[in-house]
Amino acid sequence: MYTSGFICWSFQVSAPDPLVIALPKGRILDEAMPLLKGVGILPEPAFDDPNSRLLRFATNHAHISIIRVRSFDVATFVAFGAAHLGIAGNDVLMEFDYPELYAPLDLGIGKCRLAVAEPCELGESDNPKRWSHVTVATKYPQLTKRHFATRGVQAECIKLNGAMELAPSLGLARRIVDLVSSGATLKANGLVEVEHIADITSRLIVNRAALKTRPDELGGWIEKFRTEVSRGA
Ligand code: PRP
Repeated sequence: MYTSGFICWSFQVSAPDPLVIALPKGRILDEAMPLLKGVGILPEPAFDDPNSRLLRFATNHAHISIIRVRSFDVATFVAFGAAHLGIAGNDVLMEFDYPELYAPLDLGIGKCRLAVAEPCELGESDNPKRWSHVTVATKYPQLTKRHFATRGVQAECIKLNGAMELAPSLGLARRIVDLVSSGATLKANGLVEVEHIADITSRLIVNRAALKTRPDELGGWIEKFRTEVSRGA
């Protein structure tokens, strides 16, 4: 801005508004990075440095940055508009059910399932169809209650943020609802799946308000991701 006497001239050249992409920490990140690179977004080197304490990373696009947060927090950052785009599993989307989130694209990564599990000894004689009340340790209390309510089972949920598999052996809850991929964690902790709740994959998520105000830009990124997913399919 240049001010001279009575006249105020603005010489600003409009730079693109910042765009923030939220990515989940952990195993999904390894599968997400090739997609991100495929659409032409490359984070700064600190992103791959295990000793870096940075949480927000610049990219090869001056106005685009990446944040790396817990998978549940990806949905929260995008729902509140603090990030514009993100990658989140449908487990997270089902748990929060944020109306502000639009999930236009299944990325086909992070494939696993959400299941009910219990100790092997109990599983041998148990019949989930006969439950009327169940106590479950889980990261997903809302989703779990809704799932059981559809068939008239009342679920009491004890919320944990990880290591659900410990709950049965320590008497916290006899059953858990958790993600199962290879099944190795259940097996190592003497548990067995007794009920399948949902198949899980990761989705591209967008803040609905941002999509309305920046349709060409965000729509363009959605299409680039779509092309990249179908190239890898
Ligand atoms: C997830 C999940 C299980 C495990 C299942 O945990 O909560 O514990 O993976 O994988 P598996 O069937 O291949 O053994 P994760 O390692 O992502 O960490 P978390 O407990 O922090 O969620």
